[in-house]
Amino acid sequence: MTPPAGTEDPGDEGFGLYVHWPWCLSKCPYCDFNSHVIDQPDQTRWARAYVRELETLAATAPRRPLTSVFFGGGTPSLMEPATLAAVLDAAARLWPLAPDLEVTLEANPGAVDQVRFASARAAGVNRLSLGVQALDDAALRALGRRHDRAEALAALDHARAVFDRVSVDLIHARPGQTPEAWAAELAEALALGLDHLSLYQLTIEPGTAFFQALRDGTLTPPDEDTAADLFEVTQEVTAAAGRPAYEVSNHARPGAECRHNLVYWRGGDYAGIGPGAHGRLGGSATRCVASPAAWLARVEARGDGLAARETLAPDDRATELLLMGLRLTEGINAARFELLCGRALADSLDPAGLAETVDLGLVTWDGPWLRATPTGRACLNAVIRRLAGG
Ligand SMILES: C[S@@+](CC[C@H](N)C(=O)[O-])C[C@H]1O[C@@H](n2cnc3c(N)ncnc32)[C@H](O)[C@@H]1O
Ligand code: SF4
Repeated sequence: MTPPAGTEDPGDEGFGLYVHWPWCLSKCPYCDFNSHVIDQPDQTRWARAYVRELETLAATAPRRPLTSVFFGGGTPSLMEPATLAAVLDAAARLWPLAPDLEVTLEANPGAVDQVRFASARAAGVNRLSLGVQALDDAALRALGRRHDRAEALAALDHARAVFDRVSVDLIHARPGQTPEAWAAELAEALALGLDHLSLYQLTIEPGTAFFQALRDGTLTPPDEDTAADLFEVTQEVTAAAGRPAYEVSNHARPGAECRHNLVYWRGGDYAGIGPGAHGRLGGSATRCVASPAAWLARVEARGDGLAARETLAPDDRATELLLMGLRLTEGINAARFELLCGRALADSLDPAGLAETVDLGLVTWDGPWLRATPTGRACLNAVIRRLAGG
């Protein structure tokens, strides 16, 4: 079987930089990201801390071409262009930049304006990921968003006027949502002609306002069957529109995939800076302290905000590569797995679990590629448990 374009070389997983900006204008009731509300963070101080942590991490990281930078959050569209530029300038000093470097900025339609987009572009951002979440005003209100549909579409127009590559996030499996309504909403989103869409199933996370509402009985998410139908509709409608899933929640025209996220899913190295950011550098895992104030204080005192840096044991690395790689439609390349993990993919799988999941049509193993089928991707955690012998 021919592997999907761009994945022939098992050594091409890329090298990325993730920058976590933890600030938002308000907290959405479903969100358990490391995001906090603040009036005016001291951007000069934040820029200085990012650069300092980057310099510290770079001193122990391989000097290889940087292929992607991702400003995630939180709401990084609230970053001053000078803050973005400080990080990008430092990255360019510390690593050679790949000629097609991808630089993504996450943006909230309730926290953007065109001038800021233009200055972000001038600072080096070349891809925008816009958190639209829904195209329905009642749903946006229920999700506690700061913007309505018209504002989201206006922000999208602005973004497309400035950036060649724009993606939108939408959330499905919302309370009361039917597969028919979602199919219509998705068709409308696809008709906008974007090359990339992130389509997340709503998860109700402990510690969020939605979690409390679920407990109180004031919020009822779709039952399991409806959620499965919504996932299936997502696969069918996007594939028919030429933007099939390349990962569980991500859909793109071939060639328009988010290269930064592919680094994670293919098991590549990336530096992670900012509160709560994770990284993978030369076989070790890094994790920054989550609290923004503690991170800032630690970076200023000692040069990095790391809470931990540990060498990954081969078993942990193998599990991680399975967890990440099977999310991708392309699956896991056995040669890449061996390069990254130091042992054969076949030796990392439980033979009985593999035979069973193949028989059940949940995974396939064609030549060098181990893949989850669409049915397998819909119940990935159970598949991985079986493959690991559980
Ligand atoms: C960091 S946010 C994107 C930028 C910006 N903060 C915003 O919300 O517009 C990342 C995305 O994660 C998704 N997300 C966050 N919490 C979620 C949840 N509980 N269930 C499903 N998707 C979620 C949303 O689609 C959101 O756009
Ligand atoms: S969904 Fe986005 S805007 Fe809302 S709280 Fe989370 S990170 Fe902030």
